[in-house]
Amino acid sequence: MRILITAGPTREYLDDVRYLSNASSGQMGYELARAALEAGHEVALVSGPVTIPAPEGCELYQVETTDEMYSQCEQLFKDCDGVIGTAAVCDYRIKARKPGKIAKTGEAITLELVETIDVLAELGTQKGDRWVMGFALESQDARFNAVRKLYSKKCDAIVLNGVSAIGSTDNFVEVIDQSQETVATYSGPKARVARELIAWIQAHIARG
Ligand code: CTP
Repeated sequence: MRILITAGPTREYLDDVRYLSNASSGQMGYELARAALEAGHEVALVSGPVTIPAPEGCELYQVETTDEMYSQCEQLFKDCDGVIGTAAVCDYRIKARKPGKIAKTGEAITLELVETIDVLAELGTQKGDRWVMGFALESQDARFNAVRKLYSKKCDAIVLNGVSAIGSTDNFVEVIDQSQETVATYSGPKARVARELIAWIQAHIARG
């Protein structure tokens, strides 16, 4: 298979030097890329800014903003068999990005934020006979929210993980499929969890 993977955070700029982002390390996505390559697949990895190296043999597409991530993914998805969305996409961007550097005024300032494009949901609407696996990072009503995202993003399966996954080398995940049930659980180092998730995809949602 040829697999598209999104990873890492995105950045949304307030002005030319400051941005909103999050603490995603990109590790889960990079481990999935490595595991997919080891299993004999081709990988196109679309990544926000991270400090870890891409696994040898994968095509790496570096992006910064959510719009850039979406444009790159839209282009690549056409030639892929499926997508895994692990990116911690910035949900909001500044409505009006200022050129240069915003100077202090001595007063409080208000930033108006608008939602960014939902990369995975857009790919979900375009998927045709390709498969889509999402990740859901939840701190409350975890299963309910994961199932809601499974449907709203047209995923074949969604991987539920907790906020403790951020920045950690270990993860505990539940795979929820369209039956709305947890059909697999994996825990341990992200590298091992990634190998198990690739095997699960091959066995359950990969077509042909
Ligand atoms: N995702 C995406 N583009 C976005 C937001 C999320 O591609 N703008 C993807 C993530 O990569 C992940 C899935 O959607 O695979 C769920 O992301 P998550 O942050 O858990 O959910 P959100 O849709 O952002 O919803 P909320 O922040 O309200 O929980």
